[in-house]
Amino acid sequence: MTRKILVTSALPYANGAIHLGHLVEYIQTDIWVRFQKMRGHTCWYVCADDTHGTPVMLRAEKEGISPEVLIERVHREHARDFAGFHVGFDNYYTTHSDETRDCANEIYSRLQAAGLIETRVIEQYYDPVKQMFLPDRFIKGECPKCSAADQYGDNCENCGSAYTANELKNPYSAVSGARPELRQSEHYFFRLSDPRCQSFLRDWTQAEGRLQTEAANKLQEWLGGEGENRLTDWDISRDAPYFGFEIPGAPGKYFYVWLDAPIGYMGAFRNLCLRKGLDFDEYWRPNSATELYHFIGKDILYFHALFWPAELEHAGYRTPSKIFAHGFLTVDGAKMSKSRGTFITAESYLAQGLDPEWLRYYYAAKLSSSMEDIDLNLEDFIARVNSDMVGKFVNIASRSAGFIHQRFAGQLCTCDDSLPAIQAIRERRGLIAEHYEARDFGKAIREIMALTDLANQYVDSVKPWDLARQPERTGDLQVACTNALNLFRLFAILLKPVLPALSARAEAFLNVAPLVWDDSATVLAAGHAINTYQHLMTRVDRKLVTALIEANRESLAAVPQAGPQKTTAEPPETAAAGTASGPQVSLQDFMTVDLRIARISDAAPVDGADKLLRLSLDVGPLGSRQVFAGLKAAYDPATLVGRLTVLVANLAPRKMKFGLSEGMVLAASDADGEVPGIFLLAPDTGAQPGMRVK
Ligand code: 2FM
Ligand code: ZN
Repeated sequence: MTRKILVTSALPYANGAIHLGHLVEYIQTDIWVRFQKMRGHTCWYVCADDTHGTPVMLRAEKEGISPEVLIERVHREHARDFAGFHVGFDNYYTTHSDETRDCANEIYSRLQAAGLIETRVIEQYYDPVKQMFLPDRFIKGECPKCSAADQYGDNCENCGSAYTANELKNPYSAVSGARPELRQSEHYFFRLSDPRCQSFLRDWTQAEGRLQTEAANKLQEWLGGEGENRLTDWDISRDAPYFGFEIPGAPGKYFYVWLDAPIGYMGAFRNLCLRKGLDFDEYWRPNSATELYHFIGKDILYFHALFWPAELEHAGYRTPSKIFAHGFLTVDGAKMSKSRGTFITAESYLAQGLDPEWLRYYYAAKLSSSMEDIDLNLEDFIARVNSDMVGKFVNIASRSAGFIHQRFAGQLCTCDDSLPAIQAIRERRGLIAEHYEARDFGKAIREIMALTDLANQYVDSVKPWDLARQPERTGDLQVACTNALNLFRLFAILLKPVLPALSARAEAFLNVAPLVWDDSATVLAAGHAINTYQHLMTRVDRKLVTALIEANRESLAAVPQAGPQKTTAEPPETAAAGTASGPQVSLQDFMTVDLRIARISDAAPVDGADKLLRLSLDVGPLGSRQVFAGLKAAYDPATLVGRLTVLVANLAPRKMKFGLSEGMVLAASDADGEVPGIFLLAPDTGAQPGMRVK
């Protein structure tokens, strides 16, 4: 059955560059969409720039241009970056559009008619110099809990506590430096606390398969139990001056950027419908037979799983079929950092000459359907791309295509489809499709790579290069190369959602029409002629990666930029932050260390190492790990087996001469050496392997 599917990724803000953190989501979504299209489904992928709000307004002012000019320029830059990474939107639009305005007005008026909009006078900080109300992120002051200076108005980066701007001590405006005054203003609220919203959301969020389990649990927490009323009304208006849509019938009041952002999904799709003659209502009417999926980061779950479905439901539209939240990106196990050069922009990655499909492949290999963070480990990135993509996949073609050309005028003979590798592909293609469908791309890649091992074993066993030296074995040579090229074609199909450009080059050289998923059940007919082999992919040169990091490294004295900072990246480092680094770490920094409960399933001495034990650890859902730990002097390995301890799970793996050490277990020792011994940490009874320690 052909499905009709509408897919979105979160709309990036129009005041900053696309970076590798953003790309996790766009690449994840794009792979899924390409897979659906290859399966023959109708699948539309729309996105847009999120253009409204105070940060865009202030940035335009700083640059001496209008917000419209700024968002035009950023739109071009974003579209360029996405195209550079082969993110194939069907429409990349903007929220600053007639379509989005019309949809926002429509939703607002329907919510009003349903009695779900109310006005209320609130007190808010006002900048008397700049003459504007200040969003929390533009108010700074001392943390009410720990007194750290220069903290934002919503949470403290030093102690991690959350509070309201009104609680800050000695507040000042991050825009003008002036002391803000509390002033009253009338605001518009969406009445999320209304019992209709609460009971709708209780059912909606717990519906089978709608949200990932971790997300559904979060929602349960936010909603509370039956009878509890934990949701508060949502303030959807902002006062002029503001860059956005003025609320109909409310001069000087604007829709808050987060009100019109998700509506931008509709706006982008409406624009696509106008251009392609599609039926907008078919996709958005209640009980629509079409499917709607939003890919988002876990930080914006609240907006997508509470506000958005409640708005849609009560404005008479369909609600999302599912919401797919993913984790954040870390680089080499830590938050992206400008000073370390790991806050890498999409533009710089391409400008340094790195292949976008290296990153697509690496992300795919790391992605799953969970909300776990994913780590871009640069060493692993180089190793994996070179060994898998070049060594295992491309090599199959490069070792056989030349002979077909030189010796057989490009013609293939009959493919032996009883080969174990071909049989295995036929058996596993269904499972691989299931993994793609479930967004378990890492599992799909692992399956495919195991199959490439079989294919390479075949090529190694028939040795086309040896056959080519034996004139009497010309027939065998053609069979060997035909089989190898057919295997290569099958992998090009299975990997096409991840590697669209490489697959397109493969299609050109194999001389075949664009490959679709069902093609993985067939082989090329005898007599099929291929074109000249085209270069498919180069190996990653470490120098390129080093140059990339250098190109993104900013000095500590970089001028901080006011504006919302996503939690995927460190806040801009200032000179002051640099000097205050001392022995303290922020809670945020500490939270980047992924500590897990692990069970020691095996412990053994290591030949040639005086101090080390080789530990095999069971880390529950994280799988098993091997760690080399300096515990030999303190512990008899047999006494460790079965014990629980704490593992640093996201420490960059370390290659040792005995093997790979994939993390570190925690143990105490006296730095002065006065108390001898090493003391392995152990959790209280009841802790289970894989549990997070924090
Ligand atoms: O968090 C963000 O980057 C927002 N610009 C995402 C908006 S997603 C959607 F609601 F539009
Ligand atoms: Zn604090």
